[in-house]
Amino acid sequence: MQLKEALTSAITRLTADQVPSPRMNAELLLMFTLSCDRAYLYAHPERELTAEEASRYDAALAERARGVPAQYITGHQEFWGMDLIVTPAVLIPRPETEHVVEAVLDSVGRAPSPASPLRIADAGTGSGCIALALATELPQAEIHATDISPAALEVACANAARHQLEHRIQFRQADLLTGLEPNSLDIVVSNPPYVGESEEDQVQLEVRKFEPRNAVFAGPRGLEVITRLIPQAHAVLKPGGWLVMEISGTIADDVKELLRGWDGVQITPDLQSIPRVARARKPQT
Ligand SMILES: C[S@@+](CC[C@H](N)C(=O)[O-])C[C@H]1O[C@@H](n2cnc3c(N)ncnc32)[C@H](O)[C@@H]1O
Repeated sequence: MQLKEALTSAITRLTADQVPSPRMNAELLLMFTLSCDRAYLYAHPERELTAEEASRYDAALAERARGVPAQYITGHQEFWGMDLIVTPAVLIPRPETEHVVEAVLDSVGRAPSPASPLRIADAGTGSGCIALALATELPQAEIHATDISPAALEVACANAARHQLEHRIQFRQADLLTGLEPNSLDIVVSNPPYVGESEEDQVQLEVRKFEPRNAVFAGPRGLEVITRLIPQAHAVLKPGGWLVMEISGTIADDVKELLRGWDGVQITPDLQSIPRVARARKPQT
């Protein structure tokens, strides 16, 4: 079968199976199967697929048709310009989480330069995407990253090694910020689980079925992890240190309430105008 025929029939198949963006998925999986880029697909429409390539493409399409996210099939997702390994042990990094990285960089820019290197903790690091982005942007920072899941930490460590950043980040299995010294950090950043089990039916089926449950759901209300994270962050931050968290519109008002007593509380929206990043400063006194 020629490449262009394989692509056309894949688009038809994914459309019939109601996979969103069928052309994009068909192309992505063909690029993955042939280890090539999009330009190659369009430069060689008459290239014949070998029987082995056709069989691997068919297997990838079958996985996608049953709802497996393309990133778990290809094993990759881009974040902050970096190619990251992803497995079903980690949440697939989302573009909106890049706003969290931007908010940290903005907060760092506002702070007077500390005498010692910036100390940052990323709670619930998953694939390591936030910690890795910060390690590349802030070469002087000392970064600690935790996750409750040993399988997620394995992926995060592999990503750090892939980008030669393993010496920059200390990964540790921990419940949120436990084990970090009080008053020792300049920044606490987190994209914690924040979806409530009560709103489970509003979550995309692919997310519910294939992404790690403890990465998505926090408990019945969605606030359960953040409610523990905020006082822990208060304890480990230096006075004047920043807490930056990803949130959703559903919990934005409650998060504001939980941040009562902090300075500079600010909630900023993502590109869809959904409240997405909460940040606040531990008071100086
Ligand atoms: C929403 S995912 C975020 C992953 C990654 N930081 C990102 O932005 O894509 C939340 C992560 O928090 C971890 N997690 C859940 N509860 C935790 C806890 N109590 N302590 C530490 N990590 C936790 C999950 O294993 C998951 O990797």
